[in-house]
Amino acid sequence: MAAHISKTFLNVLNRGSVSVVNKHHHRSVWVISSCCTRTVSSISAAEPGLTPRLSSHLHGKSYTELHELSLRDPETFWGSIAGERLTWSKRFEQVNDCDLATGRINWFLGGQLNVSVNCLDVHVARDPDRVALIWEKDEPGTEERVTYRELLEATCRLANTLKSYGVKRGDRVAIYMPVSPIAVAAMLACARIGAVHTVVFAGFSSEALAGRIQDAQCKVVITCNQGVRGGRLINLKATVDAAVESCPSVQRVLVARRTDNPISMGKLDTPLEEAMASASPECAPEPMASEDMLFLLYTSGSTGKPKGVVHTQAGYLLYASVTHQHVFDYSPGDVFGCVADIGWITGHSYVVYGPLSNGATSVLFESTPTYPNPGRYWETVQRLGINQFYGAPTAIRLLLKYEESWVKRYDRSSLKTLASVGEPINHEAWEWFYNVVGDARCPLVDTWWQTETGGICIAPRPAHEGGEIRPAMAMRPFFGIQPALMGEKGQTVTGNDVNGALCISKPWPGMARTIFGDHQRFVEAYLKPYPGHYFTGDGAYRTEDGYYQITGRMDDVINISGHRLGTAEIEDALDAHPDVPETAVVGVSHDIKGEVPFAFVVLKEKAMQEQEVVLEELRRLVATKIAKYAVPDHFLVVKRLPKTRSGKIMRRILRKIAMDQTDSLGDVSTLDDPSVVMEIIQAYKQTFRG
Ligand code: WT7
Repeated sequence: MAAHISKTFLNVLNRGSVSVVNKHHHRSVWVISSCCTRTVSSISAAEPGLTPRLSSHLHGKSYTELHELSLRDPETFWGSIAGERLTWSKRFEQVNDCDLATGRINWFLGGQLNVSVNCLDVHVARDPDRVALIWEKDEPGTEERVTYRELLEATCRLANTLKSYGVKRGDRVAIYMPVSPIAVAAMLACARIGAVHTVVFAGFSSEALAGRIQDAQCKVVITCNQGVRGGRLINLKATVDAAVESCPSVQRVLVARRTDNPISMGKLDTPLEEAMASASPECAPEPMASEDMLFLLYTSGSTGKPKGVVHTQAGYLLYASVTHQHVFDYSPGDVFGCVADIGWITGHSYVVYGPLSNGATSVLFESTPTYPNPGRYWETVQRLGINQFYGAPTAIRLLLKYEESWVKRYDRSSLKTLASVGEPINHEAWEWFYNVVGDARCPLVDTWWQTETGGICIAPRPAHEGGEIRPAMAMRPFFGIQPALMGEKGQTVTGNDVNGALCISKPWPGMARTIFGDHQRFVEAYLKPYPGHYFTGDGAYRTEDGYYQITGRMDDVINISGHRLGTAEIEDALDAHPDVPETAVVGVSHDIKGEVPFAFVVLKEKAMQEQEVVLEELRRLVATKIAKYAVPDHFLVVKRLPKTRSGKIMRRILRKIAMDQTDSLGDVSTLDDPSVVMEIIQAYKQTFRG
């Protein structure tokens, strides 16, 4: 196995000439005021042990004071932080201009900067040999380290390669790659030249990839020949080949080499390392306006096709940077280990932009929690000396089923913070993570946020004035976040010990600006449901003492192993089968994955005889149209679906049946024909209870 794998990233660097970064050039262009020079020092290793601080202006205040100030006077709060932490080529003139009613969201107007300069050049200027990335490759013990200087050079070479294929400011570039330094360089290369990246999780099918490329009208796709995960090879290039057939906007496919296995190259394809080796190692950064687009990331909603969530430059970077430092208690010199894939927002904000903007050493985890055994995470923690470990509850639920010795045999004394994201963390997982992994010594931080929020919004930090962190709770709002709970009639629910629809009542720098190409959809989905507020789609409970606990999605979005998916998308895939007139998909709970899809399927008369064949075809359809993880775990063939008189499917009832909770069906009187309920319950009993 190992013999097939090339040291892709180092090949690039070794083949090309090593350039010396021109510090003077960089300084004269990018550091324009004294406040910006201070920025660099406040996040560098030059001041080890410095208490993490937001800005000199805000130093020494308590969480409560700072949170109150961030809501009352966002101009002072965010203005002083943005001025100090970010390096601007032109300083902003106005902190914000927002209107949540129309979705006009602008931060740091008049300012210009370049995100790649903030993530690379500022650190190269001070400490070029600091390790930016540790690529924890699939085979344990084969990790590769990439310094800030090397990453800047690779980024510039890749940026120049993109330029040579006609990519200009504002053009979209799709990245379909596993977690790797070259993928990070690809993201930063886009940022360097003002192109907009859209990373597509490398587990999505060719049709899903094609849909995203078409919606974004991408000019270039960057991919790898193969992926390597859990000892298995994944033919990524073949998926891209199938996708680009239906994507006339794509003019070039750049193919990096993760393995030495040969693959066929077509007329659109260029080997990426070769192109980079002959490209210049220097690339002047494009000055970007604060509100220019930085990236698109597609995510599922309750209706329609996945939407391209738009994040812009300055506000997103600032929010990722501040939350990374303050929620995880990151200090200069720490090794930050977020095991998420770069195909999700967690990878964008806490593998790439947050850590790199803070000059951190960020771990890129290519493998799985159980390869080659269930001790992999903790062996990695020991070998790399990871200080902050950020993972998903689904992996924790999987690992706690194995012997504790898989954890205990490894030295975890480097760990300072444990953190969780993606779905509610149940008590059992919380206790195991905290006690077994963290030896009841490290704070465990449950972080709530979304693709649309850009960064963490609710977490126990920085809120632990009494040092208290409670099990399984996301806790308190971060700076600038004003949560509100809404009732059924659209009213704000006041007081404590109450439930409601979770909204955020004030704009914050990291929030999404729009849906690519469809601002109206943005307004409808997030701003219309509770006018004047951003609606998250989640429900929440405010405890007696004012903490927040997330109760789960309120819409038809389900969360499979921390991967968000609209049930409507799965239904669309199933409905494409010629023998299937109608389907309804609901989420049911699963002890490891959190939730899994359960599909109710109506078949045409003639297909009833060959149910098994049709169901197998349906499984394949979902895998090819979306992804393998989206394939329903359970299918139930039914004669009809429960509908209201106006024809709406009552999923609430289907969810109860799928969860085998038929003694609490609730009101079924609004159904057009209530007898359908008994019919489906009978079918369920026959299928699942024999
Ligand atoms: C949805 C967002 C944010 C990165 C990963 C997912 C659920 C996320 C938590 C948490 C309970 C959580 C919510 C949210 N979620 N974190 N700590 N506790 N639920 O990003 O794919 O945009 O999904 O994930 O339902 O709305 P995403």
